[in-house]
Amino acid sequence: MRKSLCAVIVLLGLSGGCAGPQDSRSGGQSVTSHTESDGLDAIFTHPSSDSIPDGRRGEQIRLGYQLVVHTQEFASSYVGNRLTCTNCHLDAGLDPNSASYVGLSRAYPEYRARTGLVVTLADRINECVERSLNGKPIPHDSHKLRAIVAYIEWLSKDVPSGSRMAWRGIPRLHPTKSPDVVNGTKVFTARCAFCHGADGQGTMAAPPLWGPQSYNIGAEMARIPVAASFIKSNMPRTRGWALSDQDAYDVAAYINSQPRPDFPGKGHDWPKGEKPADVPY
Ligand code: HEC
Ligand code: HEC
Repeated sequence: MRKSLCAVIVLLGLSGGCAGPQDSRSGGQSVTSHTESDGLDAIFTHPSSDSIPDGRRGEQIRLGYQLVVHTQEFASSYVGNRLTCTNCHLDAGLDPNSASYVGLSRAYPEYRARTGLVVTLADRINECVERSLNGKPIPHDSHKLRAIVAYIEWLSKDVPSGSRMAWRGIPRLHPTKSPDVVNGTKVFTARCAFCHGADGQGTMAAPPLWGPQSYNIGAEMARIPVAASFIKSNMPRTRGWALSDQDAYDVAAYINSQPRPDFPGKGHDWPKGEKPADVPY
């Protein structure tokens, strides 16, 4: 209930009201978080639209919001598929169960094993542009990239520096059995095809899950435990936590066994080793 109310409030114009401690994201299941920090636990909260400043900064924040919600329209020259940032970062990045943007500007710059470098928030946004959106990085001096950063900075303003963000990222789902793609196909037909299309290519109601218009193999969503966890807490849309861990894992394995764009830069990933076993290349 809280989540769908948030969605409505957000879509109506960025008003606050979704603050509050996060409900159990794991639903008591075997979800493990992959981010750690030593600080105090922060409470999931985000500012209300009244606090958007006037003038240029305010315009920048509002443009950043448009870019993440209407990515196809506002960032068409960079996007290479039919996805939008908020197809995965639900409710304009305000949903604590889908890699929320809240607090992120407090976490960057940060070392990332995948690039082997300390990356800025702008760098990390471009990783999603190149992989999740199968596109071209937005230049660092672009006002559009700065606008997305400004939006995330504004969303993070009430999260104290150095605090632990329990909601951060998408945890990994690790069920005890290995994935069963045959069961995954059944789950897909029964629970997903209605919105995403029997061929997974998306419909008016939902974005594509595989094929040329989907995320590429370099995306985090292309890792089965990540997709499984996202699906578990958020799909079918507005009815999260309805699938068992095993069904979420199996359907994630089915989706990620389907064809999707390659990521030509994949050979540069994890330059210092430690590539996780669930990476599909
Ligand atoms: C009621 C319609 C509906 C159903 C049923 C549904 N989805 Fe979705 N799904 C959506 C919508 C809508 C989005 C985009 C969310 C947004 O933009 O707010 C989405 C997004 C996604 C995404 C991330 C974006 C992408 O396209 O890669 C994945 C993965 C996903 N769904 C998987 C599933 C799976 C697996 C099932 C079945 C267990 C499922 N969905 C069932 C509507 C649905
Ligand atoms: C296909 C789904 C998908 C799309 C589309 C997508 N992302 Fe992501 N994004 C993810 C996943 C999955 C992660 C990894 C979360 C994790 O680390 O657990 C992520 C991570 C991020 C992070 C880092 C989060 C953190 O905790 O450090 C940022 C910032 C980000 N995305 C921004 C964007 C922006 C901006 C867009 C649009 C330009 C976008 N993403 C589009 C799925 C997506």
